Amino acid sequence: MFMGLKYFIWTVAVLLTKESSQSTISGVTGGSVILPCSSTGHEIKPQDCNVYWRHNDTKKVCDIVKGEVLVAQQYSGRAEPFPEEYGSRNFSIKLLSLKQTDSGLFSCFITPTDEYKSIELIVVHREPQKETTTTIYDTTINDTTINVKEESSPSHMVWIAIGIFILMLVVVAIVYLCKNCFKKAPVPEFSVVMNLDEEH
Ligand SMILES: *[C@@H]1O[C@H](CO)[C@@H](O)[C@H](O)[C@H]1NC(C)=O
Ligand SMILES: *[C@@H]1O[C@H](CO)[C@@H](O)[C@H](O)[C@H]1NC(C)=O
Ligand SMILES: *[C@@H]1O[C@H](CO)[C@@H](O)[C@H](O)[C@H]1NC(C)=O
Repeated sequence: MFMGLKYFIWTVAVLLTKESSQSTISGVTGGSVILPCSSTGHEIKPQDCNVYWRHNDTKKVCDIVKGEVLVAQQYSGRAEPFPEEYGSRNFSIKLLSLKQTDSGLFSCFITPTDEYKSIELIVVHREPQKETTTTIYDTTINDTTINVKEESSPSHMVWIAIGIFILMLVVVAIVYLCKNCFKKAPVPEFSVVMNLDEEH
């Protein structure tokens, strides 16, 4: 009875930790994403950590062994770690020029701490020349997805810039016109002051 309860608690704990260590990231074809992976093993020096990134748990993506980076041929030029982050045990990688076949499970295994983290990547197809459809990415609101969205729609920024520019033109035009309208009003006051000065 007691052992049964213990086992139940253990199973629940495993399920909970498994769920929290699994995250979903989405990107668009041709875009890029950062796949996060950090070690919490503070008793190990960062330079002694070896990191093995895999796709669907079997296909090699990228290894970081003794600080050396080895990228698999399929990911040549498309997987980049952040060497400046190794010191903080951050072994995240950036995946560039995303393809739809990159979808699936990415896992990072760190030795000698034996830490395992998996990230589900969803690559949504994007037409090369079409305007971006933002509705798809809104389903998972995350820092990463927001970054992807901003990177993928530079045309929005252009339209905002044009809008601000037109607004400024209108404001300048109004200010200019109003100056002309009110110019005549203060003139008599000035002459009164001038006259007073002359009398002294
Ligand atoms: C959002 O990203 C964090 C890591 O930055 C991850 O832990 C979390 O599971 C993600 N959430 C979703 C809904 O993708
Ligand atoms: C790890 O490094 C990447 C790239 O600089 C950064 O985006 C990410 O936020 C870092 N993660 C942590 C947990 O510091
Ligand atoms: C990885 O798994 C996903 C879903 O299980 C699948 O769609 C994808 O084709 C797989 N990719 C590789 C390279 O095995």
